[in-house]
Amino acid sequence: MNLSISIPVTPLDNPMAAEVVGLDLNQDLDDRTVRDLHAAWMAYPVLVIRNQPDLSHERHLTYSRRFGDLQRHTVKEILLPDYPEILALSNRGRGGAQPINNGGAYWHSDITYEENPPMGSILHGQIVPEEGGDTLYADMTAAYDALDDDTKREIDGLTATHTYRARYEAMMEQGVRPPKTEEELSQWIDVHHPVARTHPETGKKALFVNEGFTARIDGLGDNASRDLLDKLFEHSVQDRFVYRHKWRQGDLVMWDNRCTMHRATDYDLSQERSMYRATVRGDRPV
Ligand code: OGA
Ligand code: MN
Repeated sequence: MNLSISIPVTPLDNPMAAEVVGLDLNQDLDDRTVRDLHAAWMAYPVLVIRNQPDLSHERHLTYSRRFGDLQRHTVKEILLPDYPEILALSNRGRGGAQPINNGGAYWHSDITYEENPPMGSILHGQIVPEEGGDTLYADMTAAYDALDDDTKREIDGLTATHTYRARYEAMMEQGVRPPKTEEELSQWIDVHHPVARTHPETGKKALFVNEGFTARIDGLGDNASRDLLDKLFEHSVQDRFVYRHKWRQGDLVMWDNRCTMHRATDYDLSQERSMYRATVRGDRPV
């Protein structure tokens, strides 16, 4: 991709990922740089800004707001009390949030269980283990494009049900999330999104179902729904669609939730892993 922009963008080892070196996000960025970063982000849905080891929470938020309004996660225990627009994934419970060892260790796109899922997430790897704890990303545009014509026709016009409740209950049972009452659990209602959505900025189609939060395909019987979802999940996470991000301390990774999925991987829990995420609001998928 030849982007005529003011910042150096270097492709990584999957076509959807690139890195930017030489920015300091503790400084204010001018409008042109932000416009160019936005263009780079749309060209590379996983965009890595290297070398931000001293980025403060305040500056992380300031930077993230340049791409849109931010949204808060509904589970308040995993937010930083002083910066509730930041979700903490810290196995040491840094900043007063509940410690998390295993956040997002299943394929998902963030918060697809809301009517308006976020357009993007901006994750700062402040303290990362020397080995392990990589994040995997799947390119859902490439996955859609590679479907055979029959499957594309089959899913055309279909919607799927997304819910957080089942996922949260499973985590609650494992003791890795705070207990919630029935009333609290019932805030997570089912929402319905197209199985393949059209990206509002690039116009490209992308698969939009994920293991984490997609419960079923609407209008199909249980078995047909399960079979189709399993087929789409398995198809989407083939090596050719996946970028593995090996974190370096101070990386800031921005991903476009509308056309990617991601998942966390294991690491040695005796090592600290402390990551902070800001989440940019998005539109209703169509
Ligand atoms: C997230 C997430 C995975 C990881 O921040 O949304 O799923 O590897 N993170 O920490
Ligand atoms: Mn996530």
